[in-house]
Amino acid sequence: MAEPVPGSGPVLAIETSCDDTCAAVVDGDRILSNVISSQRAHERFGGVVPEVASRRHIELIGPVVETALDEAGVDLDRISSVAVTSGPGLIGALLVGVSTAKALADARRLPFVPTDHLEGHVAANFLEPDPLEPPFLCLVASGGHTLLAGVRSRDGFEVLGETLDDAAGEAIDKGARMLGLGFPGGPALQRLAEEGSPDAFDFPVAMSRDPGLDFSFSGTKTALAYTCRDLGEGGVERNRADLAASYQAAIVGQLVAKLDRALRSGEWPAVALGGGVAANGPLREAVSRLCEERGLDLKLVPLELCTDNAAMIAAASQSSRPLAWPDYLGFDPLASPWRS
Ligand code: KG4
Ligand code: ZN
Repeated sequence: MAEPVPGSGPVLAIETSCDDTCAAVVDGDRILSNVISSQRAHERFGGVVPEVASRRHIELIGPVVETALDEAGVDLDRISSVAVTSGPGLIGALLVGVSTAKALADARRLPFVPTDHLEGHVAANFLEPDPLEPPFLCLVASGGHTLLAGVRSRDGFEVLGETLDDAAGEAIDKGARMLGLGFPGGPALQRLAEEGSPDAFDFPVAMSRDPGLDFSFSGTKTALAYTCRDLGEGGVERNRADLAASYQAAIVGQLVAKLDRALRSGEWPAVALGGGVAANGPLREAVSRLCEERGLDLKLVPLELCTDNAAMIAAASQSSRPLAWPDYLGFDPLASPWRS
């Protein structure tokens, strides 16, 4: 069968790789709707429970897709293709989105576009208003990923460096938990850190002597665990704000140091941030300062496009390979490579 050519018209996109149930309608670079339903069901477990995430996606995906179409004022007959995150992510959670997307595409015999989640975080920068055109350097830091993407065209990116162990957001969430904060810990850790001193505890900025662009956060997390053990319960309680500020500074410090190192090549005229950790105030401020010093453009997408969302998947789907009906009915996200 010939390669499908998605017709002109809006894309319906679905994203269910982790704990946010998302659907969006996007026309070119223009967002017509972007619905995000964040699952609260994981808070009491202190982290995302994959089985719980899959079950909640099943409950939420129908209403979320319906709301996205309603808010866009578009019905399925006007949709030109259905895009969906095919990985990386929690397999049970991905399967809910993929099955829903297949069913919707099948109903109208539309092209189906499996799309890479990380390409989505990068492609969030291509959306209006104010789309950023390549070349640019994009730091993606979330609960599941931390990488530096060299973006030379809209068709993809080169991974210049990535985490060797924990993602930055994962280290932040685990550190927040050690300090008795809820899940997800990023926003609460940032708030607590505002009352403390980043210099109170000496958590080393990991990988600072490493000449490459990879990241590592597990050592910083262990340093916090040992410090908490040595301080004891009362000591941790008395020093919570200082611990939060020092820990956050070590993680942000590493992200900024690696970004700085990558910029030394002189190849990148602009910088973009993506992933939930990009919501972090001190990180945004430090990257703004860095770009100002170097005379570079900085693109900070709105927070709802930093964290997981389906508009970014619609954007990335425009340079992903569409699959024709009915071939995609057998599409298996477990068998698909995460990156093409
Ligand atoms: O991109 P995202 O919504 O989902 C994943 O793909 O993981 O990122 C979630 C991560 C969590 O680890 C959360 O704690 C972190 O982003 N995060 C923050 C802040 N807001 C969210 N980390 C630091 N500071 C914040 N203000
Ligand atoms: Zn993500």
